[in-house]
Amino acid sequence: MSRRTVNNWKLIKGQPLTELDKKILYIQHKGHLVPSRKLIKTPEQIEGIRRSGVINTGVLDLIEKEIKEGMSTAAIDKLVYDYTVSHGAIPAPLNYEGFPKSVCTSINEVVCHGIPSEKEILRDGDIINVDVSTILDGYYSDASRMFMIGNVSPEKQKLVQVTKECLEIGMRAAKPFGFVGDIGYAIQKHAEKNGFSVVRNLCGHGVGLEFHEEPEVCHFGRKGTGMLLVPGMVFTIEPMINMGTWKVFIDKEDDWTVITEDKQPSAQWEHTFLMTETGLEILTY
Ligand code: MF3
Ligand code: CO
Repeated sequence: MSRRTVNNWKLIKGQPLTELDKKILYIQHKGHLVPSRKLIKTPEQIEGIRRSGVINTGVLDLIEKEIKEGMSTAAIDKLVYDYTVSHGAIPAPLNYEGFPKSVCTSINEVVCHGIPSEKEILRDGDIINVDVSTILDGYYSDASRMFMIGNVSPEKQKLVQVTKECLEIGMRAAKPFGFVGDIGYAIQKHAEKNGFSVVRNLCGHGVGLEFHEEPEVCHFGRKGTGMLLVPGMVFTIEPMINMGTWKVFIDKEDDWTVITEDKQPSAQWEHTFLMTETGLEILTY
């Protein structure tokens, strides 16, 4: 843990110190990283992110209904684009840092950021992550699910199931006034107990007013480290779990596609969460 105090929590001039101010200042003084005020969403902002999340969930429900063997990932991209735009929203990936499509589709050994293509056809036995992110009235939401095509091997089925459990366990490990590292610790323990590994290079993130905000939410690590979790924070948890090595590389052809170094399969599940007074609430159901 960084013992260097970063004074993120600033007092508002002319306003009396609240109980929340005192609590956060104390924790900051002890050397913990605390959020800036911008990371604590207002009720209005939370409602905006929630509405964005409803559309994001609608997209994933549509994909769940339509996905099948023989379909191209470009066809998935078209479903995402058409549904999102017809609901008055924008697919967040489209043109994000040059990303050319509306959704990420990541099959088997592709960890994440796979680019949909006419040439890529879903085959019997494939596992695919469809990662959907939506902008509605300027508010961002982000979630992904795994889909299994036809007859999937028991090993791949287990990977998909354990990865889903990692997301649920990470969610339960996040407590108000706990730390981001509590989440990563719990996820890593569950993944490794099952003989799998946790991708290190990519993490969850704050989300809501922008696509990627602070804090970085890694899926490995130590309890009591990383940023303090305060009610009103909105962030993703999105564990990428590999059957073999945790090491990955980026495809030089497109500069996006993240692939496992040993070409063994990888799985991922993701939700956008709101930290409440009692724990995490899913905003992408
Ligand atoms: N949806 C991804 C995430 O969970 C981000 C994808 S960026 C893109 O953070 F440009 F590839 F879409
Ligand atoms: Co995300």
